[in-house]
Amino acid sequence: MCRIIACANQKGGVGKTTTALNLAAALAEKGFPTLIVDLDPQGNATVTFGLDPEDLQATVADVLLGKDFDPRYAIYKRDRLHLIPATLELEQVAVNLHAVRLREHRLDRALMLLREQYDFIFIDCPPSIGVLTENALVAADEVIIPVDMGFYAMVGITQVLGTMEDIRETLNPNLKICGFLPTKVEHQSAFAQEIIGKLHEHFNGHVFNTVIRLCHRLQEAPSHGMTIFEYDRESPAAEDYNTLALEVMRWTSNPDQPLDN
Ligand SMILES: Nc1ncnc2c1ncn2[C@@H]1O[C@H](COP(=O)(O)OP(=O)(O)OP(=O)(O)O)[C@@H](O)[C@H]1O
Ligand SMILES: [Mg+2]
Repeated sequence: MCRIIACANQKGGVGKTTTALNLAAALAEKGFPTLIVDLDPQGNATVTFGLDPEDLQATVADVLLGKDFDPRYAIYKRDRLHLIPATLELEQVAVNLHAVRLREHRLDRALMLLREQYDFIFIDCPPSIGVLTENALVAADEVIIPVDMGFYAMVGITQVLGTMEDIRETLNPNLKICGFLPTKVEHQSAFAQEIIGKLHEHFNGHVFNTVIRLCHRLQEAPSHGMTIFEYDRESPAAEDYNTLALEVMRWTSNPDQPLDN
């Protein structure tokens, strides 16, 4: 059964794109057909996937706006890892969507047609609330919330939980938290340990056991259009995203189980 998982957090730079891409790549390597939907006009996932934004026949903008557009025409493939790209054009589409009826359901409707082809679909959300993130949260079964170890981490979480609650009340009552994911973790940092401690205290059962360590190889990989597995398979980040993939596989086979036990 296909799981649709949004990577969301209004706070910028916390690792949403890095997680969507490398977790998807880890699952694809394990044999699961996996799709990434780039829903951010910045197009970071698209570029890291190795695509040139100037050279795309179709993007997620066509999926959202084209009434009878077949989403399969916007899929780009690398083995079992597939991607629907985004470009800056998506910013204008988000504005145009405001005049469209049932605008928050556009992505959901398109992904219905693709569910049968994939085991996992990851949606990379922009760092803002608005019609794009709303589309992601209506289409998703669950949400991964990457949390970096910065001072404002908990503020970002409050915002994303508030948005999820609104969507649950109105548009997608079945939306679940898959897990909070600590990112850019320096194990020797007392501040990082304090934030991870707070996550467990407030969201017991919804925090991944896996943490993604601070790893500079992760910053370099996108400039080569590569996932961490292609760029440096021996890096700590490759190990962490592999472990996360196993944890996600375990959780999705039984989503009622708490994560940390
Ligand atoms: N574990 C990590 N260690 C080191 N650098 C990281 C790690 N995770 C992400 N980064 C780097 O941090 C920056 C932000 O990451 P990323 O683009 O994934 O965040 P984001 O939440 O998608 O950002 P935005 O909100 O702008 O979409 C990138 O340069 C990325 O390479
Ligand atoms: Mg991003």
